[in-house]
Amino acid sequence: MGRGGSVGRITDSQQLTANTFPRSHSDIYYGNAGIVRKTVLIFISKLGFMTTTNDKKVVKEYFNATGFDRWRRIYGEGEVNKVQEDIRIGHQQTIDTVIEWVKQDGNLADISICDAGCGVGSLSIPLAQAGAKVNASDISEKMVAEAGEKAKEVLEDASNITFSVQDLETIGGKYHTVICLDVLIHYPLSEAGQMISHLASLAESRLIISFAPKTFWLSILKKIGELFPGPSKTTRAYQHSEADIIKILEGMGFSIKRTGMTSTRFYYSRILEATRS
Ligand SMILES: C[S@@+](CC[C@H](N)C(=O)[O-])C[C@H]1O[C@@H](n2cnc3c(N)ncnc32)[C@H](O)[C@@H]1O
Repeated sequence: MGRGGSVGRITDSQQLTANTFPRSHSDIYYGNAGIVRKTVLIFISKLGFMTTTNDKKVVKEYFNATGFDRWRRIYGEGEVNKVQEDIRIGHQQTIDTVIEWVKQDGNLADISICDAGCGVGSLSIPLAQAGAKVNASDISEKMVAEAGEKAKEVLEDASNITFSVQDLETIGGKYHTVICLDVLIHYPLSEAGQMISHLASLAESRLIISFAPKTFWLSILKKIGELFPGPSKTTRAYQHSEADIIKILEGMGFSIKRTGMTSTRFYYSRILEATRS
């Protein structure tokens, strides 16, 4: 999480799900359909729906309980352990990259931004401070409440930012720019694909997303991490192939404009900026 891809936070049984389910399910997005294939796809879709509901429930509960405490600390300024400090630094680099991209385009005060899965407002608040009109939402009530408190502390005028508790797949409206950072790591490709498609449908001009990249080396690191399960390693972590993500974006009429990569010792996040072709 707040680790686009901090590696190794997944148990062995969950790993099985992470490695097998998304691979077969990706056919839903890219495959040709014969009758047998269609039957399989319908079955997988149903399974996908059940998994989505389950994944979201687990993620939401996590970010309203132990996950909230853990990530509020990591995204905050207080004392943390070495690993958390590394993740904090990596996450901040991701935030800085995105803010720089958005600022480089120079029209911040004129654009509306949707920050989907805003967490404690690490991105939304500085964007609002820079003048953008920001709609920030998150599936976790606690994250949203914390973000609201922070915004009150930091912003002299908070009239250009709104916060709501919302599953990103139920966000409506249109925004110049839609951003979703370090959220897709919580979902397998089947679900992440649906989420990206929905977010793309809200974006008039640009979509910026980050995810934990599926590379040979990171997969090995993740496996090593799984050998040392700790008390806080309670959420599933899914890595995604960049080619899969780009295919979904292209299917929605977007092309890649900029790419970024944050790599620290424990945090890996691939960032893609896609614009309407
Ligand atoms: C790792 S944190 C990243 C927060 C923020 N994007 C950032 O980079 O600072 C992941 C956040 O995604 C939120 N989240 C997870 N699944 C979500 C969903 N389906 N819809 C909206 N938010 C979600 C979690 O509650 C959590 O706050």
